Formats: sequence, structure tokens, C-alpha cells
Amino acid sequence: MSESAIHVENIRKRYGAVEVLRGVTLQVKASSFTTVIGKSGSGKSTLLGMIGGLEQPDEGRISVLGKDISTLSSDQLAHLRRRSIGIVFQGFNLIPSLTAIENVQLPAAFEDRATATHRRRRAEALLGKVGLADRFHHRPAALSGGEQQRVAIARALINEPAILLADEPTGNLDEATGAAVLDLLLGLCRDTGVTLVAVTHDPDIAATADRVIEIKDGRYQV
Ligand SMILES: Nc1ncnc2c1ncn2[C@@H]1O[C@H](COP(=O)(O)OP(=O)(O)OP(=O)(O)O)[C@@H](O)[C@H]1O
Ligand SMILES: [Mg+2]
Repeated sequence: MSESAIHVENIRKRYGAVEVLRGVTLQVKASSFTTVIGKSGSGKSTLLGMIGGLEQPDEGRISVLGKDISTLSSDQLAHLRRRSIGIVFQGFNLIPSLTAIENVQLPAAFEDRATATHRRRRAEALLGKVGLADRFHHRPAALSGGEQQRVAIARALINEPAILLADEPTGNLDEATGAAVLDLLLGLCRDTGVTLVAVTHDPDIAATADRVIEIKDGRYQV
């Protein structure tokens, strides 16, 4: 068995009176494609946010690329997130005042290894790959929902993350564009060894995954 990129061990998460996750345990193999399914409100985005280090579980442990993220300092966690984890948020979270190409480049602005020219070329190439070569200078308000989603995907890939967490990455796209974006994500998995975890409601996407994880009654255990 190849190395596990993500190890979630018996995590629990409560928001007020609601216990959203009540013991979730799973391992994700490096370079695999995993989908997370489950009803609306079942805790899929919560789980993804915790794997991405954005939220802390109340109980349990999460290791990402061999590091127990609860033991990292905030600087170490920020570094891991920036370097190794790309996140495509369900609500896109683009910066309204920045253009498409500026949004895509933003996470790379903090990386010494990326020169401005390299950063810009890479952002252009990524926007081209998601079909937005003619939208570089549009701000989010001037982009459709699906276009914003594709900018968010390009942004998540700018630092060549080892892990890509995508929350319904094709949820706002028409069938053809969704299929193209999915092909792009799967190509990355295949060609660059990215570990992809995607939340989806789309049975066609779930069918292409190496593994499907269903969150039900706050639980998933293997
Ligand atoms: N910050 C928060 N404060 C309070 N409750 C929250 C918070 N975040 C999530 N919840 C609650 O936790 C539950 C799970 O939310 P989550 O966003 O993880 O669901 P989901 O499975 O991603 O749903 P969907 O398919 O609709 O995106 C929901 O009932 C939600 O109201
Ligand atoms: Mg969600």
C-alpha cells in the first residue's frame, strides 16, 4: 500500500448543540482520488476544513503528509497550508477587489521560490487550462458563478500542492465545463501525483473516484 497522505483519526466536532461529526476515521492514500458524499449539512465541508487546517476538531487527530497538524505552531501550519495544500472553497472565497489573475497569483506572492514572472506565467497557464484565457482582468463581480469557481481552482493549484481539497468543484458548472474541470483535476492526480479529495453531489464524479466516503449520521469509520 502506498503511503497515506491524510490520516484522520476519530475526530469529533460540535457546533453549539449540534454534534456534526461524531467519530470520523479515514486514511487517504497519496496520489489517489477520493470523493466525499453525504446529505447537505452532514459535515462534508467541516471535514474538509479540518483536514485543511482551517478548523480544529474537538477530539481526535489529523495528520497531513506525516505531520500531526494539531502540534504545529500557527506559522508552521500556515507554511504547510501554503506549500502543500490547495483548497477550493464551496463559496469560492475570491478577493473581490482583485482581478482573476491577481486572485490566482495571490497564494504564490508569499513564496520566495516563485519569481514574479514565473508566478504570472503559471497563473496565466492555469487560467488557460480552466478555459479563462480571456478573463484575466475581470474582477469576481464581473464573472459568472462557474467562472469564479474555475478561478478558485486555478488559485488552489498555483503553488503546486501535494494535496488538493475541493468542495463541490464542479457544482456551478454546466456538464461540458464540469467534465473539462474534472479531467483537469484527474490529469493532475495522474501526472503530478496530487492527492485529490473532492466533495461532490454528482454521482458521475463519485463513479470516477478511487474511493467514495459517505458521511452519514456524523460518522465514517474504516
Ligand atoms: N461555524 C459554524 N457554526 C455553527 N454551525 C455550523 C458552522 N459550520 C457548520 N455548521 C453546521 O454544521 C453542519 C454541517 O455543515 P457543513 O457545511 O459541513 O455541511 P455539508 O455537508 O458541507 O453541507 P452541504 O452539502 O450543504 O454543503 C450544518 O448543519 C451547519 O449548520
Ligand atoms: Mg458543504
